[in-house]
Amino acid sequence: MPGRILVTGASGQLGHEVVENLAQQGYEVIAPTRQQMNFLVPGQVAEYALAVRADRVVNCAAYTQVDKAESEAGDAHTINCESAGRLAAAVAEYGGRLLHVSTDFVFDGASSEPYCEQDETNPLSVYGRSKRDGERAVMDALPGAVILRTAWVYGAHGNNFVKTMLRLAAERDHLRVVSDQVGTPTWTRDIAHAISELIRHEASGVFHFTAAGQTSWHGFATAILHEAGRLGFEVKAKTVEAIPTSEYPAPATRPAWSVLDTHKIQDSLSLSIPDWRDSLVSMLKELRTCAG
Ligand SMILES: NC(=O)c1ccc[n+]([C@@H]2O[C@H](COP(=O)([O-])OP(=O)(O)OC[C@H]3O[C@@H](n4cnc5c(N)ncnc54)[C@H](OP(=O)(O)O)[C@@H]3O)[C@@H](O)[C@H]2O)c1
Repeated sequence: MPGRILVTGASGQLGHEVVENLAQQGYEVIAPTRQQMNFLVPGQVAEYALAVRADRVVNCAAYTQVDKAESEAGDAHTINCESAGRLAAAVAEYGGRLLHVSTDFVFDGASSEPYCEQDETNPLSVYGRSKRDGERAVMDALPGAVILRTAWVYGAHGNNFVKTMLRLAAERDHLRVVSDQVGTPTWTRDIAHAISELIRHEASGVFHFTAAGQTSWHGFATAILHEAGRLGFEVKAKTVEAIPTSEYPAPATRPAWSVLDTHKIQDSLSLSIPDWRDSLVSMLKELRTCAG
């Protein structure tokens, strides 16, 4: 199966892991920089894809600054929607396959049941809307594409909640973290594996992938500090106080409930999904090894 595969956003936390996974499997991976394939210039994105004509494309490039997007709606739309759509149209033109990464933020979080792929989207933020519109643009241009929605992403590469908590825990005695947003922390290594399985099975359509289980940001922070302490990270913080979102105001509204139903991907690919806490421990061990 290995052939040529174009991975966009390779410098990001997920893209980095996807490149590593696919290269290990023997794919010839093409990973352009932002200068070579700038998603703020949709025409350049299409031109690059048409020049490379990779058998498969994985789109991990995105405008991901959720709060900043509220004041940069134009850039978020260009990168997450317009360029994603142009990329899909280019791939359709030469007959390639595309996997496009999306987010739990396409939902409004008003549910109390895990969201299925066919559930109605209703994004609450500029970022969420740009991603939802991006999904539509991709599917309009290339109906055989895969849309992979994931959530609460962290990895050893790049900035994320785990690394922020580790830094704050080493600096402060006391942390305050919101407890009324619930979701599933998901390791980039696990997402990269799911992506490679979707490619191997030549899947198409919308899929949800996260780790198993659910927690709040407060529960996640508490677990990070506990496991980090056990693994020998410096943890000065003794307590993590649970606070409501109203005490941590941010420009963008986040869904209160972000749990995604992953039965479809498990059943279609015979994929077993690790518990979020086991993956957290694996990621922390890797960070510890790198630091050592
Ligand atoms: N992070 C999360 O919690 C989360 C949750 C759900 C879904 N997702 C989705 O997962 C995917 C990957 O996210 P991530 O967490 O890996 O994001 P990330 O670490 O912020 O990486 C984003 C990537 O997009 C690239 N990019 C941004 N603007 C660009 C532009 N104008 N032209 C070309 N490339 C550009 C970045 O390149 P530079 O290095 O040059 O900036 C980087 O490689 C996205 O589709 C995101 O919506 C993320």
